[in-house]
Amino acid sequence: MTQELLKFKQDKVLVEGLSNSFSAEIEVPGDKSISHRAVMLGSIAGGKSRIYNLSVSGDNLAAVAAFRKLGVNIKKQNTGGSKKDFIIEGVGFYGLKEPKSVINTANSGTLTRLIAGMLAGNDFFSILSGDKYLNSRPMQRIIEPLRLMGAKISGRAGDSYPPLAISGGGLQSVFYEVPVPSAQVKSCIMLAALYAEGDTVIYERIATRDHTENLLKFQGYPVSVEDSSSGGSFITVKGRYAGGLNPLEFRIPGDFSSAAFFIALGILNKNSEITIKNIIINEKRTGLLKALKMMGADVNTVIKDTSPETVGDIKVKYSDNIKGITLPEEIVPDMIDEFPIFAVMASFAEGKTTVAGAKELRVKESDRIKSIVYNLNAIGVDIKELEDGFEINGNPDLKFSGKDLPKKSAADNDIKELNSFGDHRIAMSMVIAGLILKNAKSEIKDINCINTSFPEFFYTLNSIINL
Ligand code: S3P
Repeated sequence: MTQELLKFKQDKVLVEGLSNSFSAEIEVPGDKSISHRAVMLGSIAGGKSRIYNLSVSGDNLAAVAAFRKLGVNIKKQNTGGSKKDFIIEGVGFYGLKEPKSVINTANSGTLTRLIAGMLAGNDFFSILSGDKYLNSRPMQRIIEPLRLMGAKISGRAGDSYPPLAISGGGLQSVFYEVPVPSAQVKSCIMLAALYAEGDTVIYERIATRDHTENLLKFQGYPVSVEDSSSGGSFITVKGRYAGGLNPLEFRIPGDFSSAAFFIALGILNKNSEITIKNIIINEKRTGLLKALKMMGADVNTVIKDTSPETVGDIKVKYSDNIKGITLPEEIVPDMIDEFPIFAVMASFAEGKTTVAGAKELRVKESDRIKSIVYNLNAIGVDIKELEDGFEINGNPDLKFSGKDLPKKSAADNDIKELNSFGDHRIAMSMVIAGLILKNAKSEIKDINCINTSFPEFFYTLNSIINL
């Protein structure tokens, strides 16, 4: 029997508790981080790249549009009926053209910060600007190292935020220690380094996701990574005379960050299980699995491929006795996008979960610490905001206590209004929370932002909950 658990009205969704169990096997769309890099590095490769299963989310389509504006021919491949296979006619390092208008980087911090590095190396003028959320995200973190390399770059509000104006060219190599754990900052410098005189060395105190390193190596470019004794790493990128990039041909694995919502649903929903196939299982992305295992969740992975990225299947089963944990700070960067859904899971676990050392959450698509605390508070979770994280006193019975939720009005009868704050991952996390609350209805507003990373989210979700 199917239940209509999701009711849409304008930019809101009303979610009812899920009472069925399910046993499902799904795939999720191509990884957003890798899709960005594939478009960027395919565009400056020497020859035709074929990218299969590219993410066609708002963020990634903004990357495609940006490189088209820079003169790169990017088209859909019309074979096999897939709408996600693309051909990129790479123009080489120095073939990009000056854009005639502002490059729109939409909601995407990754696109803005990475393309800025590449544009800093190109001898022309460009401007980057995005939506109101993007234009409030910190850019000083890339302006500083790019200026050290000799770039002329400036930004709004005393170089704090986009729009960014860049007059590129004439870069020198640097040694740079990235002050915040950020793959975006690291990758920005790496892309600028391709255009610099001499070899650039970047030091990260805590190693972050390494997709830029992996793809550059896959394209035959000299990049070396050396682990430091203290858990960080040194990344060396050869400068401008080191040769070009080979074109890419590969299939982008499923996005772990999108899979995370279904991992949570499978673990939290009674007598359910779910297998998510062909997902990226790079350990710099899958910190959530480590945390869930610490909590006692039933999680298994099977590796199927290792180049250019590790890919495999993830299977999770309903785990009725997950326990709260103190999250080790060193895995924070490895699950940086998964905190909204992790917080939902911790809410239904037994005991206390503490997350600290995660201040970066304050400068994501929303202030995620605030967004998490606001929404979980609204559904009755005992949660405390910390400067650099949060503390949750989990309660497995919360799943069944919807009737005690605060009411908007008598007529609403248990409907609680939740808010995405324009943040896609908050929106999707709260939809999952709404399905787990058995006796309540939750209305989540401002859900269109889900298209930023996962336009197929509700389609995939319906295929599971209507089994
Ligand atoms: C990303 C890095 C992370 C992550 C973002 C994607 C990337 O940001 O939050 O969603 O593709 O490099 P930071 O590097 O700023 O932590």
